[in-house]
Amino acid sequence: MLMGYDFDTIIDRRDTQCLKWDGMEERFGVSPEDGLAMWVADMEFCPPPEVNEALRRAADHGIHGYPGGLVLYHDAIMNWMARRHGWAVEPEWIFTTHGIVNAVNLLVQAFCEPGDQVVVQPPVYYPFFGAITANGCEVINNQLVQVDGRYRMDLAELDRQTGPATRMLILCSPHNPGGRVWTRVELKELAEFCLERDILIVSDEIHHDLVYEGYTHTVLASLGPEIASQVITCTSASKTFNLAGTMTGNVIISNDSLRRRFQLQMARCGMHGPNRFGPLTATAAYNHGEKWLEDLLKYLQGNRDRVDSVVRESLPGGTSMPLEGTYLAWLDLWGTGHSMEEIVRRVQEDARLALNHGPTFGPGGDLHMRLNFACPQSMLDEALERLVSAFGV
Ligand SMILES: Cc1ncc(COP(=O)(O)O)c(C=O)c1O
Repeated sequence: MLMGYDFDTIIDRRDTQCLKWDGMEERFGVSPEDGLAMWVADMEFCPPPEVNEALRRAADHGIHGYPGGLVLYHDAIMNWMARRHGWAVEPEWIFTTHGIVNAVNLLVQAFCEPGDQVVVQPPVYYPFFGAITANGCEVINNQLVQVDGRYRMDLAELDRQTGPATRMLILCSPHNPGGRVWTRVELKELAEFCLERDILIVSDEIHHDLVYEGYTHTVLASLGPEIASQVITCTSASKTFNLAGTMTGNVIISNDSLRRRFQLQMARCGMHGPNRFGPLTATAAYNHGEKWLEDLLKYLQGNRDRVDSVVRESLPGGTSMPLEGTYLAWLDLWGTGHSMEEIVRRVQEDARLALNHGPTFGPGGDLHMRLNFACPQSMLDEALERLVSAFGV
Protein backbone atom coordinates (compact mmCIF):
# COMPACT_ATOMS: atom_id res chain seq x y z
CA MET A 1 0.00 0.00 0.00
CA LEU A 2 1.40 3.45 -0.90
CA MET A 3 1.74 5.54 2.23
CA GLY A 4 3.37 8.81 3.17
CA TYR A 5 4.75 7.21 6.32
CA ASP A 6 6.50 3.91 6.79
CA PHE A 7 4.50 1.43 8.83
CA ASP A 8 5.95 -1.59 7.03
CA THR A 9 9.51 -1.75 8.29
CA ILE A 10 10.04 -4.11 11.20
CA ILE A 11 12.02 -2.34 13.90
CA ASP A 12 13.80 -4.71 16.26
CA ARG A 13 12.88 -3.58 19.77
CA ARG A 14 14.59 -6.43 21.60
CA ASP A 15 17.19 -5.37 24.18
CA THR A 16 15.90 -1.82 24.26
CA GLN A 17 14.49 -2.11 27.80
CA CYS A 18 10.93 -2.21 26.45
CA LEU A 19 8.20 -4.07 28.31
CA LYS A 20 6.54 -5.61 25.28
CA TRP A 21 9.57 -7.56 24.01
CA ASP A 22 12.03 -7.59 26.89
CA GLY A 23 9.31 -8.46 29.39
CA MET A 24 7.49 -11.15 27.38
CA GLU A 25 9.48 -14.18 28.43
CA GLU A 26 9.02 -13.47 32.11
CA ARG A 27 5.27 -13.04 31.69
CA PHE A 28 4.40 -15.56 29.00
CA GLY A 29 7.37 -17.91 28.76
CA VAL A 30 7.75 -16.88 25.13
CA SER A 31 11.31 -15.99 24.22
CA PRO A 32 11.86 -12.83 22.17
CA GLU A 33 14.35 -14.89 20.14
CA ASP A 34 11.64 -16.79 18.28
CA GLY A 35 8.45 -15.34 19.71
CA LEU A 36 6.27 -12.44 18.64
CA ALA A 37 5.12 -9.83 21.15
CA MET A 38 1.51 -8.91 20.45
CA TRP A 39 0.24 -8.04 23.89
CA VAL A 40 0.60 -4.77 25.83
CA ALA A 41 -0.93 -1.76 24.03
CA ASP A 42 1.93 -0.02 22.34
CA MET A 43 2.71 -0.07 18.65
CA GLU A 44 5.64 -1.30 16.57
CA PHE A 45 5.78 2.07 14.78
CA CYS A 46 7.85 5.22 15.21
CA PRO A 47 5.74 8.24 16.14
CA PRO A 48 5.35 11.14 13.68
CA PRO A 49 8.87 12.29 12.66
CA GLU A 50 8.36 15.67 14.34
CA VAL A 51 8.21 13.90 17.71
CA ASN A 52 11.65 12.37 17.39
CA GLU A 53 12.94 15.67 15.99
CA ALA A 54 11.70 17.40 19.15
CA LEU A 55 13.50 14.78 21.23
CA ARG A 56 16.68 15.18 19.16
CA ARG A 57 16.56 18.95 19.64
CA ALA A 58 16.19 18.42 23.38
CA ALA A 59 19.09 15.93 23.41
CA ASP A 60 21.25 18.30 21.37
CA HIS A 61 20.46 21.11 23.75
CA GLY A 62 21.54 18.72 26.43
CA ILE A 63 20.07 19.96 29.69
CA HIS A 64 17.09 18.16 31.16
CA GLY A 65 16.01 20.21 34.14
CA TYR A 66 12.47 20.69 35.43
CA PRO A 67 9.91 21.23 32.67
CA GLY A 68 7.99 24.49 32.34
CA GLY A 69 6.29 26.49 29.64
CA LEU A 70 3.34 24.11 29.77
CA VAL A 71 1.24 26.75 28.04
CA LEU A 72 2.41 25.26 24.74
CA TYR A 73 1.37 21.79 25.86
CA HIS A 74 -2.02 23.00 27.09
CA ASP A 75 -2.59 24.89 23.83
CA ALA A 76 -1.75 21.76 21.87
CA ILE A 77 -4.25 19.69 23.90
CA MET A 78 -6.98 22.33 23.62
CA ASN A 79 -6.51 22.67 19.87
CA TRP A 80 -6.51 18.91 19.38
CA MET A 81 -9.65 18.41 21.45
CA ALA A 82 -11.45 21.24 19.68
CA ARG A 83 -10.34 20.17 16.21
CA ARG A 84 -10.66 16.40 16.46
CA HIS A 85 -13.36 16.00 19.09
CA GLY A 86 -15.38 19.22 19.08
CA TRP A 87 -14.68 19.67 22.77
CA ALA A 88 -13.75 23.05 24.24
CA VAL A 89 -11.25 22.61 27.09
CA GLU A 90 -9.96 25.39 29.35
CA PRO A 91 -6.28 25.30 30.37
CA GLU A 92 -7.07 25.31 34.08
CA TRP A 93 -9.11 22.12 33.72
CA ILE A 94 -6.01 20.10 32.81
CA PHE A 95 -3.95 18.13 35.34
CA THR A 96 -0.99 16.12 34.09
CA THR A 97 -0.34 12.76 35.73
CA HIS A 98 2.13 9.89 35.40
CA GLY A 99 -0.05 8.25 32.76
CA ILE A 100 -3.68 7.16 32.98
CA VAL A 101 -3.33 4.19 35.33
CA ASN A 102 -1.82 6.65 37.78
CA ALA A 103 -4.67 9.06 37.05
CA VAL A 104 -7.36 6.45 37.73
CA ASN A 105 -5.72 5.47 41.01
CA LEU A 106 -5.46 9.11 42.09
CA LEU A 107 -9.10 9.66 41.17
CA VAL A 108 -10.26 6.70 43.27
CA GLN A 109 -8.19 8.03 46.17
CA ALA A 110 -9.56 11.54 45.72
CA PHE A 111 -13.25 10.72 45.44
CA CYS A 112 -13.84 7.42 47.23
CA GLU A 113 -13.57 6.21 50.79
CA PRO A 114 -12.55 2.66 51.68
CA GLY A 115 -15.68 0.52 51.45
CA ASP A 116 -17.23 2.56 48.64
CA GLN A 117 -18.35 0.72 45.53
CA VAL A 118 -16.85 1.47 42.14
CA VAL A 119 -18.42 0.13 38.95
CA VAL A 120 -16.47 -1.26 36.01
CA GLN A 121 -17.81 -2.89 32.88
CA PRO A 122 -15.88 -6.08 32.25
CA PRO A 123 -14.30 -7.55 30.34
CA VAL A 124 -12.25 -4.38 30.73
CA TYR A 125 -8.74 -2.96 30.97
CA TYR A 126 -7.54 -4.83 34.05
CA PRO A 127 -5.65 -2.10 35.99
CA PHE A 128 -9.07 -0.63 36.81
CA PHE A 129 -9.65 -3.54 39.19
CA GLY A 130 -6.35 -2.87 40.97
CA ALA A 131 -7.06 0.86 41.28
CA ILE A 132 -10.27 0.03 43.13
CA THR A 133 -9.12 -2.79 45.39
CA ALA A 134 -5.73 -1.28 46.25
CA ASN A 135 -7.62 1.70 47.63
CA GLY A 136 -9.92 -0.38 49.80
CA CYS A 137 -13.00 -0.08 47.59
CA GLU A 138 -15.31 -2.75 46.27
CA VAL A 139 -15.49 -3.64 42.58
CA ILE A 140 -18.98 -3.83 41.09
CA ASN A 141 -18.77 -5.84 37.89
CA ASN A 142 -21.44 -4.57 35.54
CA GLN A 143 -20.64 -7.09 32.86
CA LEU A 144 -21.12 -6.11 29.23
CA VAL A 145 -23.53 -8.25 27.26
CA GLN A 146 -23.22 -9.30 23.64
CA VAL A 147 -25.80 -8.32 21.09
CA ASP A 148 -25.11 -9.39 17.50
CA GLY A 149 -21.53 -10.14 18.44
CA ARG A 150 -20.77 -6.70 19.92
CA TYR A 151 -20.73 -5.46 23.48
CA ARG A 152 -23.58 -3.45 24.94
CA MET A 153 -23.93 -1.93 28.38
CA ASP A 154 -26.44 -3.52 30.74
CA LEU A 155 -28.05 -0.63 32.60
CA ALA A 156 -30.95 -2.76 33.84
CA GLU A 157 -28.46 -4.97 35.67
CA LEU A 158 -26.54 -1.89 36.83
CA ASP A 159 -29.75 -0.61 38.39
CA ARG A 160 -29.94 -3.80 40.45
CA GLN A 161 -26.25 -3.66 41.35
CA THR A 162 -25.92 -0.08 42.56
CA GLY A 163 -26.95 1.47 45.85
CA PRO A 164 -26.04 4.23 48.27
CA ALA A 165 -22.44 2.97 48.58
CA THR A 166 -21.84 3.26 44.81
CA ARG A 167 -19.64 6.28 44.39
CA MET A 168 -17.96 6.01 41.00
CA LEU A 169 -18.12 4.33 37.59
CA ILE A 170 -14.97 3.92 35.54
CA LEU A 171 -15.94 4.03 31.88
CA CYS A 172 -13.65 2.74 29.17
CA SER A 173 -14.46 4.72 26.03
CA PRO A 174 -13.69 3.43 23.43
CA HIS A 175 -13.84 0.09 25.16
CA ASN A 176 -10.78 -2.11 25.65
CA PRO A 177 -11.09 -4.97 24.90
CA GLY A 178 -13.77 -5.40 22.26
CA GLY A 179 -13.28 -2.06 20.55
CA ARG A 180 -16.74 -0.61 21.00
CA VAL A 181 -16.97 3.10 20.24
CA TRP A 182 -19.91 3.99 22.43
CA THR A 183 -22.58 6.01 20.63
CA ARG A 184 -23.93 9.36 21.83
CA VAL A 185 -27.18 7.63 22.77
CA GLU A 186 -25.43 4.93 24.83
CA LEU A 187 -23.26 7.52 26.56
CA LYS A 188 -26.18 9.80 27.28
CA GLU A 189 -28.18 6.96 28.82
CA LEU A 190 -25.27 5.97 31.02
CA ALA A 191 -24.59 9.57 32.07
CA GLU A 192 -28.25 10.15 32.93
CA PHE A 193 -28.31 6.94 34.96
CA CYS A 194 -25.27 8.12 36.93
CA LEU A 195 -26.54 11.69 37.35
CA GLU A 196 -29.79 10.39 38.87
CA ARG A 197 -27.83 8.34 41.40
CA ASP A 198 -25.00 10.79 42.03
CA ILE A 199 -22.38 8.40 40.69
CA LEU A 200 -19.24 10.14 39.49
CA ILE A 201 -18.02 8.98 36.06
CA VAL A 202 -14.32 8.65 35.38
CA SER A 203 -14.20 8.42 31.61
CA ASP A 204 -10.97 6.86 30.38
CA GLU A 205 -10.83 8.02 26.78
CA ILE A 206 -7.20 7.13 26.08
CA HIS A 207 -8.16 5.31 22.83
CA HIS A 208 -10.29 8.23 21.60
CA ASP A 209 -8.29 8.92 18.45
CA LEU A 210 -8.09 5.28 17.33
CA VAL A 211 -11.49 4.97 15.74
CA TYR A 212 -12.27 3.40 12.36
CA GLU A 213 -14.23 4.61 9.36
CA GLY A 214 -17.93 4.73 10.02
CA TYR A 215 -17.58 5.44 13.76
CA THR A 216 -17.18 8.64 15.74
CA HIS A 217 -15.84 8.99 19.24
CA THR A 218 -17.95 11.16 21.50
CA VAL A 219 -16.25 12.83 24.43
CA LEU A 220 -18.67 12.13 27.26
CA ALA A 221 -18.04 15.51 28.90
CA SER A 222 -18.98 17.26 25.66
CA LEU A 223 -22.61 16.13 25.99
CA GLY A 224 -23.68 19.27 27.83
CA PRO A 225 -22.92 21.10 31.08
CA GLU A 226 -25.03 18.90 33.33
CA ILE A 227 -23.28 15.73 32.22
CA ALA A 228 -19.88 17.46 32.23
CA SER A 229 -20.39 18.40 35.89
CA GLN A 230 -20.44 14.71 36.82
CA VAL A 231 -17.63 13.53 34.55
CA ILE A 232 -13.86 13.46 34.82
CA THR A 233 -12.08 12.77 31.54
CA CYS A 234 -8.75 10.99 31.20
CA THR A 235 -6.86 11.37 27.93
CA SER A 236 -3.33 11.15 26.64
CA ALA A 237 -1.37 11.38 23.43
CA SER A 238 0.26 8.08 24.36
CA LYS A 239 -1.96 5.57 22.55
CA THR A 240 -2.59 7.81 19.54
CA PHE A 241 1.07 8.52 18.83
CA ASN A 242 2.80 5.57 20.48
CA LEU A 243 4.31 7.52 23.36
CA ALA A 244 3.36 5.21 26.25
CA GLY A 245 6.92 5.26 27.58
CA THR A 246 6.68 8.96 28.32
CA MET A 247 4.16 8.05 31.05
CA THR A 248 2.11 11.20 30.63
CA GLY A 249 -1.64 11.51 30.80
CA ASN A 250 -4.19 14.18 31.52
CA VAL A 251 -7.12 14.42 33.86
CA ILE A 252 -9.53 17.05 32.60
CA ILE A 253 -12.14 18.40 35.03
CA SER A 254 -14.54 21.25 34.26
CA ASN A 255 -16.46 21.11 37.56
CA ASP A 256 -14.84 23.56 40.02
CA SER A 257 -15.49 21.64 43.20
CA LEU A 258 -14.34 18.31 41.75
CA ARG A 259 -11.26 20.10 40.46
CA ARG A 260 -10.42 21.53 43.88
CA ARG A 261 -10.76 18.10 45.43
CA PHE A 262 -8.48 16.53 42.84
CA GLN A 263 -5.98 19.37 43.24
CA LEU A 264 -5.72 18.43 46.90
CA GLN A 265 -5.07 14.81 46.01
CA MET A 266 -2.31 15.79 43.58
CA ALA A 267 -0.75 17.94 46.32
CA ARG A 268 -1.00 15.12 48.86
CA CYS A 269 0.92 12.86 46.49
CA GLY A 270 3.51 15.51 45.74
CA MET A 271 2.59 15.54 42.05
CA HIS A 272 4.08 18.92 41.25
CA GLY A 273 4.79 18.56 37.57
CA PRO A 274 5.08 16.18 34.66
CA ASN A 275 8.30 14.65 33.40
CA ARG A 276 10.19 16.64 30.79
CA PHE A 277 9.59 14.37 27.83
CA GLY A 278 5.82 13.82 27.98
CA PRO A 279 4.67 17.36 27.25
CA LEU A 280 7.53 17.88 24.81
CA THR A 281 6.62 14.88 22.66
CA ALA A 282 2.86 15.25 23.00
CA THR A 283 3.04 18.90 21.94
CA ALA A 284 4.98 17.97 18.79
CA ALA A 285 2.58 15.11 18.07
CA TYR A 286 -0.61 17.12 18.55
CA ASN A 287 0.71 20.05 16.52
CA HIS A 288 2.21 18.08 13.64
CA GLY A 289 0.87 14.54 13.77
CA GLU A 290 -2.58 14.75 12.23
CA LYS A 291 -1.64 13.48 8.75
CA TRP A 292 0.44 10.71 10.32
CA LEU A 293 -2.60 9.68 12.39
CA GLU A 294 -4.82 9.58 9.30
CA ASP A 295 -2.33 7.26 7.59
CA LEU A 296 -1.92 5.16 10.72
CA LEU A 297 -5.69 4.65 10.94
CA LYS A 298 -5.84 3.42 7.35
CA TYR A 299 -2.99 1.02 8.05
CA LEU A 300 -4.56 -0.26 11.25
CA GLN A 301 -7.88 -0.69 9.51
CA GLY A 302 -6.12 -2.91 6.95
CA ASN A 303 -4.64 -4.97 9.79
CA ARG A 304 -7.98 -5.20 11.54
CA ASP A 305 -9.57 -6.52 8.36
CA ARG A 306 -6.74 -9.05 7.93
CA VAL A 307 -7.29 -10.39 11.45
CA ASP A 308 -11.03 -10.62 10.84
CA SER A 309 -10.74 -12.48 7.56
CA VAL A 310 -8.05 -14.93 8.72
CA VAL A 311 -9.94 -15.76 11.91
CA ARG A 312 -13.22 -16.10 10.02
CA GLU A 313 -11.83 -18.22 7.22
CA SER A 314 -9.03 -20.24 8.79
CA LEU A 315 -9.52 -20.54 12.55
CA PRO A 316 -12.37 -23.01 13.06
CA GLY A 317 -14.37 -22.15 16.15
CA GLY A 318 -12.72 -18.75 16.58
CA THR A 319 -14.28 -15.32 16.18
CA SER A 320 -12.87 -11.82 16.37
CA MET A 321 -15.20 -9.15 17.72
CA PRO A 322 -15.81 -6.51 15.02
CA LEU A 323 -13.64 -3.61 16.18
CA GLU A 324 -14.98 -0.07 15.87
CA GLY A 325 -11.86 1.36 17.47
CA THR A 326 -8.53 0.40 19.12
CA TYR A 327 -5.87 -1.93 17.67
CA LEU A 328 -6.63 -4.74 20.10
CA ALA A 329 -8.38 -7.71 18.52
CA TRP A 330 -10.58 -9.62 20.95
CA LEU A 331 -10.53 -13.27 19.97
CA ASP A 332 -13.23 -15.58 21.26
CA LEU A 333 -11.91 -19.16 21.17
CA TRP A 334 -14.84 -20.80 22.94
CA GLY A 335 -15.87 -22.54 19.72
CA THR A 336 -12.53 -24.35 19.44
CA GLY A 337 -13.68 -26.57 22.29
CA HIS A 338 -10.41 -26.12 24.20
CA SER A 339 -9.99 -25.12 27.83
CA MET A 340 -8.31 -21.81 28.65
CA GLU A 341 -5.25 -23.71 29.73
CA GLU A 342 -5.02 -25.48 26.39
CA ILE A 343 -5.64 -22.24 24.48
CA VAL A 344 -2.76 -20.59 26.37
CA ARG A 345 -0.53 -23.61 25.72
CA ARG A 346 -1.22 -23.58 21.99
CA VAL A 347 -0.72 -19.82 21.72
CA GLN A 348 2.46 -19.68 23.77
CA GLU A 349 4.14 -23.03 23.22
CA ASP A 350 3.01 -23.92 19.70
CA ALA A 351 2.56 -20.50 18.08
CA ARG A 352 5.22 -18.74 20.17
CA LEU A 353 3.00 -15.70 20.55
CA ALA A 354 2.69 -13.43 23.56
CA LEU A 355 -0.97 -12.36 23.73
CA ASN A 356 -2.98 -11.07 26.68
CA HIS A 357 -5.03 -13.77 28.38
CA GLY A 358 -8.76 -13.06 28.36
CA PRO A 359 -9.48 -13.88 32.03
CA THR A 360 -7.17 -11.02 33.09
CA PHE A 361 -9.90 -8.65 31.88
CA GLY A 362 -12.40 -10.02 34.41
CA PRO A 363 -15.82 -11.63 33.96
CA GLY A 364 -16.54 -12.36 30.31
CA GLY A 365 -12.87 -12.78 29.46
CA ASP A 366 -12.67 -16.56 29.77
CA LEU A 367 -11.67 -18.44 26.60
CA HIS A 368 -10.57 -15.17 24.97
CA MET A 369 -7.21 -13.82 23.91
CA ARG A 370 -6.35 -10.20 23.09
CA LEU A 371 -4.08 -9.65 20.12
CA ASN A 372 -2.37 -6.31 19.47
CA PHE A 373 -2.14 -5.87 15.69
CA ALA A 374 -0.41 -2.46 15.66
CA CYS A 375 2.59 -3.83 13.81
CA PRO A 376 3.88 -4.16 10.24
CA GLN A 377 1.61 -6.32 8.10
CA SER A 378 4.36 -8.87 7.51
CA MET A 379 4.68 -9.41 11.27
CA LEU A 380 0.92 -9.71 11.62
CA ASP A 381 0.75 -12.21 8.77
CA GLU A 382 3.42 -14.32 10.46
CA ALA A 383 1.53 -14.20 13.75
CA LEU A 384 -1.76 -15.15 12.12
CA GLU A 385 -0.15 -18.01 10.25
CA ARG A 386 1.26 -19.35 13.52
CA LEU A 387 -2.08 -18.95 15.25
CA VAL A 388 -3.94 -20.79 12.53
CA SER A 389 -1.49 -23.66 12.53
CA ALA A 390 -1.57 -23.89 16.35
CA PHE A 391 -5.34 -24.35 16.19
CA GLY A 392 -5.32 -26.39 13.00
CA VAL A 393 -7.34 -29.55 13.10
C1 LIG B 1 -8.18 1.90 28.62
C2 LIG B 1 -6.74 2.14 28.98
N1 LIG B 1 -6.44 3.02 29.94
C3 LIG B 1 -5.16 3.28 30.28
C4 LIG B 1 -4.12 2.62 29.67
C5 LIG B 1 -2.71 2.86 30.08
O1 LIG B 1 -2.45 4.18 30.34
P1 LIG B 1 -1.04 4.65 30.86
O2 LIG B 1 -0.01 3.89 30.11
O3 LIG B 1 -1.04 6.10 30.53
O4 LIG B 1 -1.01 4.40 32.32
C6 LIG B 1 -4.40 1.69 28.67
C7 LIG B 1 -3.31 0.95 28.03
O5 LIG B 1 -3.49 -0.02 27.37
C8 LIG B 1 -5.74 1.44 28.32
O6 LIG B 1 -6.06 0.56 27.37
